[in-house]
Amino acid sequence: MISAPQRRLDKSNAQFQRAVKRLPLGVASTFRYWGDERTIYAHHGKGGRTWDIDGNSYVDYRLGYGPAILGYADERVDAAARRGMEVGGVFALSTERELIVAERVAKMVPAAELVRFSNSGTEAVMAALRLARAYTGRESYLLVEGGYHGLFDAAMWMANMDEWDAKSNRDPEVVPYGKGIPETVKHLAHLVPMNDMQRLEDTFRRHGETMAAMLIEPIQGNCCAISASRDYVQLARQLCDQYGVLLIIDEVKTGFRVGKGGIQGILGVRPDITTFAKAVANGYPISLVAGREDVMRSFRYGGASHGGTYTAHSVSLAAAEECLRILDETPALETLAGYGERLKAGVSQILSARGITHSFSGHPSMFGLFFAEAPPDNYRAWKTSDYTFYDRMAYYLHDLGIIVEPDSREPWFMCEAHGLDDSCLTDTLKAVEAAVELTLRDQTEGRLDAAE
Ligand SMILES: Cc1ncc(COP(=O)(O)O)c(C=O)c1O
Repeated sequence: MISAPQRRLDKSNAQFQRAVKRLPLGVASTFRYWGDERTIYAHHGKGGRTWDIDGNSYVDYRLGYGPAILGYADERVDAAARRGMEVGGVFALSTERELIVAERVAKMVPAAELVRFSNSGTEAVMAALRLARAYTGRESYLLVEGGYHGLFDAAMWMANMDEWDAKSNRDPEVVPYGKGIPETVKHLAHLVPMNDMQRLEDTFRRHGETMAAMLIEPIQGNCCAISASRDYVQLARQLCDQYGVLLIIDEVKTGFRVGKGGIQGILGVRPDITTFAKAVANGYPISLVAGREDVMRSFRYGGASHGGTYTAHSVSLAAAEECLRILDETPALETLAGYGERLKAGVSQILSARGITHSFSGHPSMFGLFFAEAPPDNYRAWKTSDYTFYDRMAYYLHDLGIIVEPDSREPWFMCEAHGLDDSCLTDTLKAVEAAVELTLRDQTEGRLDAAE
């Protein structure tokens, strides 16, 4: 008889009780709140692992939602960041290292002809959309259902899957991500389901002349790593050209992760603008807006405004220089993708041995796990798949020392350090086996939907 794992979170729970008096939900980002008695406070991270303040250690597949591409506290990048500290921070002036980093980015991603820096993914996408509007003189834009582009009003419109009836012929309602987003901007956002070529063509036919941009994540990093087909992205490119719309590929998660040249390199499509963030500097805050020279030159006096006090901070810039050098010149990306392949194979073996139907989406460096014959190819299909098994398994994995996102919409992220430490794989597979057994037991007892 398998027993539920015991994990002590006494210190985290006590910290929560103190923190919630001063910090909303006791955390600094709403998504870090996992319940009054399951919110974890991190003590430190090293390589592919995180330790909480109770001393529990976890193999970490969230990696801060992707940034720690090499692993936490990477000595090479941290040493570079310390050198960056000696430069002095920010000056309201430029530094020579900006060009060094921009040259590296342009070498790795041919469509990144010119580069601007920002601090977060949100800031980069916000700047990219403004740039597209400035260049085209148009205001509306196209989003893909299930995509996520950050916490600014224009990006915060989504298909309401909670209320959507999959059997009806109607599209899901477009709703804001929460309160505080003005309804008056809603009419500027058009949404289409991923991989539906007919809908894409129809939408361009109806709105193409007034759209500034189509914004797409070809691997949806916040929606099960649902992936655009090569044909879909190529059709998007073709329609953008036909209607004078700029194609923005949001590579905040895929950039410098799925390959040196990003997902655009794999799909063989050249966007007009690309946004990068997470893997640029192994977790130091920096992001990039990069693209076609004539478009990027709209960043000028009298054109699209862009800047910011902390832009191109000397610490982040030095970290970016070193992180991108490692990703470009060493086999780090092969190491972490190889680890992802081995992890998928191990998980598959555990599930197949128990006759559990499953599939994977995305790329070995960031993949989604599904309990269905094939992964969904758009957000509507995710709604109709059964994710209760995943949710319960993830719950047990936390107790067993593996951090994955509790929500099945967030993929598992690999880092180089996972691939360099064999114990990460053995510890993970041992925990997955136990979590699957516990979940099967709950399923047999009809307790899969019940909250613990
Ligand atoms: C594809 C994509 N774009 C933009 C963002 C926003 O980035 P940030 O959280 O750094 O503001 C995210 C964050 O997860 C993302 O995944």
